[in-house]
Amino acid sequence: MHQITEAHARELAKQAQRKEDLRAAIESDLVGVHRILFEAGCGHGHWLTDFAEANPETLCVGIDLISWRIRKGNDKKAKRGLKNLHFYKAELGEFLEVLPKSISFERTVLLFPDPWPKARHHRRRMVQPGFLSEVAGRTDRGGEFCFRSDDRPYYDWTVECLNEHAEWQVDESAPWPYESETYFQSLMDEFFSVVAKRI
Ligand SMILES: C[S@@+](CC[C@H](N)C(=O)[O-])C[C@H]1O[C@@H](n2cnc3c(N)ncnc32)[C@H](O)[C@@H]1O
Repeated sequence: MHQITEAHARELAKQAQRKEDLRAAIESDLVGVHRILFEAGCGHGHWLTDFAEANPETLCVGIDLISWRIRKGNDKKAKRGLKNLHFYKAELGEFLEVLPKSISFERTVLLFPDPWPKARHHRRRMVQPGFLSEVAGRTDRGGEFCFRSDDRPYYDWTVECLNEHAEWQVDESAPWPYESETYFQSLMDEFFSVVAKRI
């Protein structure tokens, strides 16, 4: 019979508690919310804070794995008194698991996600066919998936995944939704952007 070690059992308990805490925070913040703009890997929250301030009618949600980056995002939110913005320290897969299915995405944004350049690490990239399907399942027709990276191979991979996906269509004529330089964008000389529409 398969036995789990004590360390593994502790890790599973921590994960369950983490998801429970995240679920409770989301349920209290997002009461009555049905549509959001979602940013995965929001870092310090530069882009999302600016976007939320310029678009007060849009409920914006950003997640990141790193606590201190989320704290910086929350500081920006507090300074500007934004009520339409929430940041969560969360891993992408866990966030999507916990987010109520009744909440859909009008737009999903990934800005300068970690490229994981080595082929054996590609499965750690946030963009994966399964992720695109999950986002498509939460996005109405016409909704957008917006991706920007300085890493050409990651950009090409994303365009390829989108082109192969039955529910997304790259829209070369679609404007970038909102320009505001992120921390990582400020470090890069060049970058590549793609917008896809849910079909
Ligand atoms: C290179 S930084 C870019 C941050 C920000 N978007 C910017 O442009 O300044 C990538 C961010 O994605 C976050 N990240 C990577 N994998 C993640 C995952 N699976 N779930 C949530 N956040 C993730 C990292 O913690 C990091 O802050």
